[in-house]
Amino acid sequence: PHVAVIVVAAGSGTRLAAGAPKAFVGIDEHSILRHALERVFAGPLAQVIVVAPEDRVGDALTEARAVAGARHELIDVVAGGRTRQESVAAGLRVVWPAVEYVLVHDAARALTPPVVFTRVVAALESGHDAALPVVPMVDTVKRVDAVRVIAALDRSELAAAQTPQGFRRAVLDAAYAAAAADHTDDAALVQAAGHEVATVAGDALAFKITTSADLDRARALLAVPRA
Ligand code: CTP
Ligand code: MG
Repeated sequence: PHVAVIVVAAGSGTRLAAGAPKAFVGIDEHSILRHALERVFAGPLAQVIVVAPEDRVGDALTEARAVAGARHELIDVVAGGRTRQESVAAGLRVVWPAVEYVLVHDAARALTPPVVFTRVVAALESGHDAALPVVPMVDTVKRVDAVRVIAALDRSELAAAQTPQGFRRAVLDAAYAAAAADHTDDAALVQAAGHEVATVAGDALAFKITTSADLDRARALLAVPRA
């Protein structure tokens, strides 16, 4: 399949506060970006686009080449924008003409297993315009205002959204061209454009490294030899 994976890695990592842009922080001897790309390259793909901070484009290319090896011609690296949405838009501008499906993936979800990419592409191949990996909510969620609970929500109707989020290329292009507001993720943007978004099973390992506790968790997971 002609799949492009846009790996957004242009954030600054304010909440992680590790002294470097988040994607370039080490988990073990390898960075968050490097771990993310290793798993991306183990999934279905034809093109990999890394969206990096403007002053880190060269570093991102070095990381991506190290992972791609002989497949280095599949890589493009571009500079991101102020928001995640602007960074995705920058990646979308360099998707090759032959690409049919575009997956958008957070570099910060560095341990996402390749099988999640496979599931998302399978949903697109079966005819869905958009596919979103989800996991059940662990916490009970309430709708609140500043001081009180407005409503208890039924947990069985809720799910946590992960990445990679996959789209028929024309659908994502059109949704981005029409996007007025800033959306939290690409599935929300495509849904706002009137498309149905199919769900596929996500994975606990696709958690987003946001805080230092998340980074500790990623480090612990990598330190344990896998069975
Ligand atoms: N991202 C991006 N461009 C931005 C903002 C975010 O490419 N302008 C990417 C991040 O690099 C990350 C993903 O979007 O892989 C999810 O964003 P988040 O976890 O919020 O990362 P940061 O924005 O870097 O972190 P923070 O919000 O704590 O500053
Ligand atoms: Mg952010």
